[in-house]
Amino acid sequence: MINFYLVLLSVLPLGATIPANTKHGSRFEVFKNGTFFIKNVQLQDRGQYLCTAHNRFGSDRMVITLAVQTEAPRIQPPKTPELSIYLGKTVAFDCLASGKPPAQISWILPDRTFVRDPGTIHTVLSPMSLLQNGTLRIHSANFSSKGDYKCIASNAAGADTVTYQLHVAALPPSISEEVQDTVIIQPDRSMYAHCSAKGEPVSLRNRRYQMGRKDEGDYTCHATNKLGKDERKLSVKLGSNAPQIGLKSQSLVKVKLGESVKLSCQATGEPKPRITWISPHTDVIPPLSDKYRVVDDGTLILKKVTLADEGKYACVARNSAGDDIKNMIVEAELQEPYINGVRGKTTAKLLAVSYQTALLDCRVEGKPEPKVWWLTPYGHSLTPPYLGGRFQVHQNGSLELRGVRKTDAGRYKCFAKNHLGELLEALSQLTPPDQV
Ligand SMILES: *[C@@H]1O[C@H](CO)[C@@H](O)[C@H](O)[C@H]1NC(C)=O
Ligand SMILES: *[C@@H]1O[C@H](CO)[C@@H](O)[C@H](O)[C@H]1NC(C)=O
Ligand SMILES: *[C@@H]1O[C@H](CO)[C@@H](O)[C@H](O)[C@H]1NC(C)=O
Ligand SMILES: *[C@@H]1O[C@H](CO)[C@@H](O)[C@H](O)[C@H]1NC(C)=O
Repeated sequence: MINFYLVLLSVLPLGATIPANTKHGSRFEVFKNGTFFIKNVQLQDRGQYLCTAHNRFGSDRMVITLAVQTEAPRIQPPKTPELSIYLGKTVAFDCLASGKPPAQISWILPDRTFVRDPGTIHTVLSPMSLLQNGTLRIHSANFSSKGDYKCIASNAAGADTVTYQLHVAALPPSISEEVQDTVIIQPDRSMYAHCSAKGEPVSLRNRRYQMGRKDEGDYTCHATNKLGKDERKLSVKLGSNAPQIGLKSQSLVKVKLGESVKLSCQATGEPKPRITWISPHTDVIPPLSDKYRVVDDGTLILKKVTLADEGKYACVARNSAGDDIKNMIVEAELQEPYINGVRGKTTAKLLAVSYQTALLDCRVEGKPEPKVWWLTPYGHSLTPPYLGGRFQVHQNGSLELRGVRKTDAGRYKCFAKNHLGELLEALSQLTPPDQV
């Protein structure tokens, strides 16, 4: 029978003896056959162990030295230990360390806070958290976030550190609006001068103005941040008076056919507005023509009104400050028909030349527009547009007779009719050619 004893010389409290088949604490055990078993070796387990064996004939002993191998932590060097990020952006600092036993990761923040436990970090700095793998993540950098971030990896064998340097950058401000030196505002209107800026961060002064009458002058919009400033100057001038047309209510003008009519358009404004008239066919009316005259004060005179002149006339008053417009409707009064500009019967004598063309006019006016027809000496009724043989009646009422001969002589009567009256008028006496 052999008895084994293990004596731990330098590690366990002096003289600690573990007999065979006995446990010592949770990690040490000496088996029945004398084998010493250490669970979960730690650095402090290194040292000398003495094994003694004895029986009644004597004893023996053996000293064993246990060395525990360790490896001090080594942090993977960062690719970019110095980093610049824009305000509000996220950044992560890795801290991957090797080591035996595995290194414990902790961080020292720029404000000297020591962080070891993974999770959200509460400091006066911008929000950040420590991840399980040792990475430090800054969620929304602001100017408090800048500085040195030091990662410490440590185990029983030693420690390693890396330091990241963080700069928080911003964009210098720049005002987006185009340069516009002078703005002219209307005396009784208001305006907005916009001023918006790019940059991080940016503060704007004089963002918006509402201009009133007494606000003439120079204005400056300033945009500033830590990196610089930008500004826009704006000069506001009180502008001229936009035109205003008086008496705008009078808009329907009745006129007798064949007569003239005046359409007035009196506009005020500074500088003096220029008057332009637009016809119902939306043409610009020339200042002087057979039909129209525009007087100096802007009045439009419409000469010898016909049904074709009816419609909407627009007077436009314009100067550098703006324009105003007035519409007037010209309407002919109801009128029984009349022919060749004369009320009442007319007789025209026409001398024709053999084999030439004779033109017998019948210009009819009236409202509503009259119906026109001709009656020949032979009792034929011809309505425009008529074209037959040598006879033609034009749209304007004129009867055209080509290649006049003796037998064409006689009385040609033109008739005009609307619901206001029928007029037998315009007796044209065609004298035969051979009587000339
Ligand atoms: C001693 O006993 C243990 C457990 O029974 C065994 O694992 C080990 O191999 C033995 N050692 C020798 C030298 O027989
Ligand atoms: C940065 O953010 C933190 C948390 O939101 C805040 O307490 C601190 O005042 C901020 N610093 C600056 C310079 O804005
Ligand atoms: C650490 O973990 C985060 C999130 O899981 C990951 O994005 C990052 O890449 C990890 N870092 C390293 C060095 O593995
Ligand atoms: C009527 O129209 C015809 C053909 O276009 C023309 O020759 C004639 O001169 C016109 N008559 C009047 C009075 O306008």
